[in-house]
Amino acid sequence: MKNTIAIILAAGEGTRFNSETPKVLHKILGKMIISRVVEIVDGFDKKIIVVGHKSELVKKSISPVRNGVPQSGISNRVSDKNVVFVEQIVQLGSGDAVKQTEKILKNFTGDLVILSGDVPLLKKETVGKLLSVHKKEKAVATVLTCEVENPSHYGRIIRNADGTVKSIVESKDASDDVKKIKEINSGVYVFSSKELFSALHKIKNDNSKREYYLTDVISILSRQNKKIIAYKIENFREIMGINNRCELAQAENYIREKVLENLMHSGVTIVNPATVYIEETVEIEKDAMIMPSTIIKGRTKIGSGGVIGPFSYIEDSTIDKNVEIRASFVYGAEIADDVKIGPFSHIRKETKIGRHARIGNFSEIKKSAIGENTKVSHLSYIGDSQLGKNINIGAGTITCNYDGKNKHKTEIGDYTFVGSNTNLIAPVKIGKGVLIAAGSTITHNVPDNKLAIARERQVIKKRQD
Ligand code: UD1
Ligand code: CA
Repeated sequence: MKNTIAIILAAGEGTRFNSETPKVLHKILGKMIISRVVEIVDGFDKKIIVVGHKSELVKKSISPVRNGVPQSGISNRVSDKNVVFVEQIVQLGSGDAVKQTEKILKNFTGDLVILSGDVPLLKKETVGKLLSVHKKEKAVATVLTCEVENPSHYGRIIRNADGTVKSIVESKDASDDVKKIKEINSGVYVFSSKELFSALHKIKNDNSKREYYLTDVISILSRQNKKIIAYKIENFREIMGINNRCELAQAENYIREKVLENLMHSGVTIVNPATVYIEETVEIEKDAMIMPSTIIKGRTKIGSGGVIGPFSYIEDSTIDKNVEIRASFVYGAEIADDVKIGPFSHIRKETKIGRHARIGNFSEIKKSAIGENTKVSHLSYIGDSQLGKNINIGAGTITCNYDGKNKHKTEIGDYTFVGSNTNLIAPVKIGKGVLIAAGSTITHNVPDNKLAIARERQVIKKRQD
């Protein structure tokens, strides 16, 4: 975007959030509010973010570009080398916030797009249209507005007879008549830079909040007979401000429903969508089925024919075709075709599960590879292990991988049968085609095709009573 600079106002405390975390760092569908706002002005060469309240935290969340390379794997952070921060030390109002950018915009004569750090659902295309209307009409300022049934705490747009904008009146300072106006200020504007700063020097804080309002610039310019127009859009959701946690939930619900609708139109069945949470970063192939009360997050891919849920949580995982995951937690894992997981299994980071494997109820798998057709069907813990194919792990088998200081590895070869309630004391290597008797505690390696039995021999004694 040539000769256009974006300013994002994000210095405010967000008092109505009642939070230790700055408002703009709260998340909507897994992504921080500020990340969403920065994405709106993606194509701009320069983005100035005005920070203030807990500015160090806000800055840290936006600047992970190291040596010019965006840091991957941090889906919540913005990687943007075109971001510049400006501090507003004391939060004296939105007008005062914009004023802080003046020193770095001294020589800039183009247009400024101003966004609120708490208006995250705005579409890029809308900003594009706002700019083109502003240019076409040769306006000095263009305000993005919307007509709403309940204008509540939003600033009201006062128009001149010819339709141009005369002023913006804040809800708290509005008369009963002005309060009836249904056209609201979105907090998104385009300004000619020079005109904006000259007007900003004239704003006062003689209002109910004792703040320097950015919105007062409009009446100042209007009195100078400068052309100020409104660009009105239909969809209120796009411009809703996130001022408290109720609005946060409403915004999330709005995007969540959009994500689910897109998936359904692309051929994914979602049963009872009201209970399903899927982030925008998730990819699901057609003819997968998402069952109720399921959460799918991060960089997750799900192949066709899969049935995910009910009651499942999947994060940062690759799930191939025809996989069933019922009532289970899966994160940071790779699951191959035709695997069945659950109910009540826990598949943890760095796990790979091979085709047709079965991870049954109440099993936990951590940092392990499970081969094709291998079954860990009941009540097992497999950690730091390498399991071949066609293995049967009996109920209650535990890899004892931790000695209190270090983690150790377990290896099990193809076609081995591990009897129920076996303890495998790692490090240990079990060969191929081995049979381990139920109830064994295996402390030494077992060669291929052998039987290992490591338990007390049963004795039968006369009863004493
Ligand atoms: C603001 C507008 C209102 C509009 C609404 C749309 C003003 C005076 N009013 O009201 O007309 O309908 O947005 O959502 O602008 N900020 C700072 N420094 C400050 C104060 C605020 O950076 O000293 C930032 C905030 O972080 C926020 C933005 O400016 O991102 C707007 O401030 P906020 O207090 O949320 O204004 P609203 O009351 O929502
Ligand atoms: Ca606001």
